[in-house]
Amino acid sequence: MKLQSIELPFGKNQSLHKSPKIVLLVIFTLVFLIVIPYYPLLKYPLYLVKNSSEPSSFYDSNDELISVQSINEKCDLFSGEWIPNPDAPYYTNTTCWAIHEHQNCMKYGRPDSEFMKWRWKPHGCNLPIFNPAQFLEVVRGKSLAFVGDSVGRNQMQSLICLLSRVEYPIDVSYTPDEHFKRWRYMSYNFTLATFWTPHLVKGEEADNNGPTHTGLFNLYLDEFDEEWTTQVEEFDYLIISAGHWFFRPMVYYENHQIVGCHYCLLDNVTDLTMYYGYRKAFRTAFKAINSLKNYKGITFLRTYAPSHFENGLWNQGGNCVRTKPFRSNEIKLDDQNLELYMAQVEEFRKAEKEGKKKGLRYRLLDTTQAMLLRPDGHPSRYGHWPHENVTLYNDCVHWCLPGPIDTWSDFLLEMLKREGVRSHEEKLQYLSDRKLPVR
Ligand SMILES: *[C@@H]1O[C@H](CO)[C@@H](O)[C@H](O)[C@H]1NC(C)=O
Ligand SMILES: *[C@@H]1O[C@H](CO)[C@@H](O)[C@H](O)[C@H]1NC(C)=O
Ligand SMILES: *[C@@H]1O[C@H](CO)[C@@H](O)[C@H](O)[C@H]1NC(C)=O
Ligand SMILES: *[C@@H]1O[C@H](CO)[C@@H](O)[C@H](O)[C@H]1NC(C)=O
Ligand SMILES: *[C@@H]1O[C@H](CO)[C@@H](O)[C@H](O)[C@H]1NC(C)=O
Repeated sequence: MKLQSIELPFGKNQSLHKSPKIVLLVIFTLVFLIVIPYYPLLKYPLYLVKNSSEPSSFYDSNDELISVQSINEKCDLFSGEWIPNPDAPYYTNTTCWAIHEHQNCMKYGRPDSEFMKWRWKPHGCNLPIFNPAQFLEVVRGKSLAFVGDSVGRNQMQSLICLLSRVEYPIDVSYTPDEHFKRWRYMSYNFTLATFWTPHLVKGEEADNNGPTHTGLFNLYLDEFDEEWTTQVEEFDYLIISAGHWFFRPMVYYENHQIVGCHYCLLDNVTDLTMYYGYRKAFRTAFKAINSLKNYKGITFLRTYAPSHFENGLWNQGGNCVRTKPFRSNEIKLDDQNLELYMAQVEEFRKAEKEGKKKGLRYRLLDTTQAMLLRPDGHPSRYGHWPHENVTLYNDCVHWCLPGPIDTWSDFLLEMLKREGVRSHEEKLQYLSDRKLPVR
């Protein structure tokens, strides 16, 4: 029952306080209308894409900007379209045991299967379909941790299923708590882990058991969530993400004082919006990473994956019943999705700059645009039996397995493959910035 409530991405009383919400919406709409035409971030942050058949030009170039530009013109992995892929899916609920109950959409009678049969086609290049054997070679002897909420777990289970054609991991968890799983691929000495931290920072549910149970969270925006920050130093890769839990009512603390809230219904506390907490949470999470003494890993920010409730909010009959992806000209990132995306990417850029001083690497796993186009990939009402009384009855937040979230592993492998070239280039830059001998 505890799990049930933890599973919920939204608060129980999300519908409370309609009028301020409408006012907010109007204000945001106005702000967006004014700001959007000038906002360069709308052009997605571009990821470096290397043409490995011509490495010498990169190594020779000391001017990173020039090489970035020439590469960007070639291809941004994260800007593209979904195209049909008759070969998918690459596993089913009978070949993979790692599918979470609530994402096992076929088991619960989802009638269509076309949603599994798409691949991501970046404009200007191809994104190879995930190759499990190649992935395991790339990560041999390494460790990867997912830090975040149930969508992060969703990605890890997708990865386990994709890898299952080669090997299943064994459970080497250090606690029976299902929120902190650790898996090991014995033939590859590869470790996979998840750390549960839906808000990334220290937090607790306020009056958890009291009669006034509200689903209200107290968030300590400037305090590390030590459940993960004390555990990740040894990891080679961290994939950090957060999102849907920030829609819930929250009270914000900084320096042990209440500084404001989001939908908290306390008369004397200012509503600072969820964006305030979201931004600060990422700032603190990245600060924690940059302050780890022995951490040498690569930090990926897996950007916000929008939900797709239509005709109502999650608790007002909203649902996601589409069976096809959008084309990129059919939908734009806007309102809440845009605001959350921008907040996290801005904090990411600052952290990246800070991390660079220590030689730490940050990468953007920029899934937002691709997932915005996939209203068809959610469980909807096929995450449980029809008679089951679950609070998130129509789930338009998580992703069916198999399904479009499998593409995140396509992105990840492609980024890891290019990492060698990119890391080498950054190392040269790092050394030359410090006038250290290049070797
Ligand atoms: C990579 O470089 C090779 C040789 O210069 C060229 O033939 C090829 O078209 C390039 N590929 C891409 C994707 O730009
Ligand atoms: C897998 O999905 C099928 C429907 O495609 C369903 O009948 C079956 O119960 C599911 N099996 C498991 C183990 O989830
Ligand atoms: C497995 O990888 C870890 C690093 O993640 C390394 O310390 C250890 O020596 C490796 N073990 C074997 C048997 O290769
Ligand atoms: C707001 O009012 C409540 C009840 O009157 C009180 O318990 C709380 O401490 C107040 N909070 C602040 C920040 O003043
Ligand atoms: C479903 O759960 C709600 C809230 O927990 C409860 O009020 C309602 O009676 C339940 N309905 C059924 C059919 O069990």
